[in-house]
Amino acid sequence: MAKRTIVKMPGDGIGKVVLEEAVRVLDSAGFQADYVEGDIGWDFWCKEGNPLPDRTIKLLETHKIGLFGAITSKPKDAALSELSADLKDKGLVYASPIVGLRQHFGLDICVRPCRSYIGNPLNFIRRGKNNSIEEPAIDVVIFRQNTEGLYGGVEWSNPPDQVYQALMTHPKFKKNFGWCPKEELSVSTRIFTRKYTERILRAAFEYAKKYGYKSVTLCEKPNVIRETSGMMYTLAKAIQKTDYPGIELWNTNIDAQMMWLTKNPEDYGVIVAGNMFGDIASDGFAGLIGGLGFACSAQFNPDTGIGVFEPTHGSAPKYAGYKTSIVNPIAMIESACMMLDYIDENAIAAKIMKAVAAVIEEGKVRTYDMMKMTGKPDVIEKGAASTQQMTDAIIAGL
Ligand code: NAI
Ligand code: MG
Repeated sequence: MAKRTIVKMPGDGIGKVVLEEAVRVLDSAGFQADYVEGDIGWDFWCKEGNPLPDRTIKLLETHKIGLFGAITSKPKDAALSELSADLKDKGLVYASPIVGLRQHFGLDICVRPCRSYIGNPLNFIRRGKNNSIEEPAIDVVIFRQNTEGLYGGVEWSNPPDQVYQALMTHPKFKKNFGWCPKEELSVSTRIFTRKYTERILRAAFEYAKKYGYKSVTLCEKPNVIRETSGMMYTLAKAIQKTDYPGIELWNTNIDAQMMWLTKNPEDYGVIVAGNMFGDIASDGFAGLIGGLGFACSAQFNPDTGIGVFEPTHGSAPKYAGYKTSIVNPIAMIESACMMLDYIDENAIAAKIMKAVAAVIEEGKVRTYDMMKMTGKPDVIEKGAASTQQMTDAIIAGL
């Protein structure tokens, strides 16, 4: 079989560090691939006025599979002030390139597994009966709609007249907000389309069926957000009834789900939600299994096959310049394993995941976050493993 070409997009800060570590693991595990580097991130905003250059889009169009580190985003005025002098008066506006990638390629399916590892000192524990300590095993996979909803970017401050007039035709808008001068209004929309709502629901049910999860939980708020969450719930019930009768459909509200997070996280399996609630639920569950050093994700478009795999953490600029890197590479390595599964290299993915689990269970090599230290350069002399040492331990376990 022809060798794969993977577009590696390191981005900024620790994204550059952890991506190289993941590639080192992939190589050592025997994954045969060529890599091409895709430019993305803050440097390209500053130099070229575009954090997501067209050449990077072309690379992904051609090769279809991307491994992404993390990017740095900064507020509007910082973005403008750091822009190269010759670009400053061109009216350029910074936009997050990772959101740009999701929208450009319609990467509407986002999958974020949150599984606890045996022996991870960061695992959630709670008090049980008779003051006992319980450490529930968590195996939750969040399916987040990745392109619509509250993050769709359809929003206005001081909306145009047509939009304002359209809003005024809604009795509730007129009654409750009609008093507000148009100039003082900000509106962010929450748009769900039936097509993409159905796609994320089906992806969640299909995953539950394939991997033997007994339930799919829709985590929205249909009793209040009646149109969008309501549509999602109606579709979920219909899909479950006709196509997945063997899988239970549970319905939780996002606020209650956040409370139940610490009460009974072990009861949940696959969770499916719109863009923002999926984002919230996945950070919530990630907190129970070790936080950002362990939170991986996949995002893809089932029509084109294009997929981008990334840790959910950002570029952690404060750790980026360390001579010896201290950050945890596991989230990035897990994301690379999600890529392998996606391209049917399941055996290599399983081998790597087994090595990761073994290193965590053995407990000899732990990055600073796993030792509950404050991230500073001196964590290494205090016994924390460096990023490279953690990777080396995983590679040794292969
Ligand atoms: P962050 O995820 O970069 O870091 C938050 C904190 O989490 C860090 O200070 C560190 O304590 C910890 N952390 C993150 N990754 C870790 C790892 N691998 N191992 C151990 N500890 C880790 O989020 P923050 O500080 O809010 O944002 C920093 C920059 O990253 C911003 O410019 C932000 O816009 C960007 N960002 C980019 C994302 C992406 O590329 N997908 C996602 C989130 C933030
Ligand atoms: Mg988030």
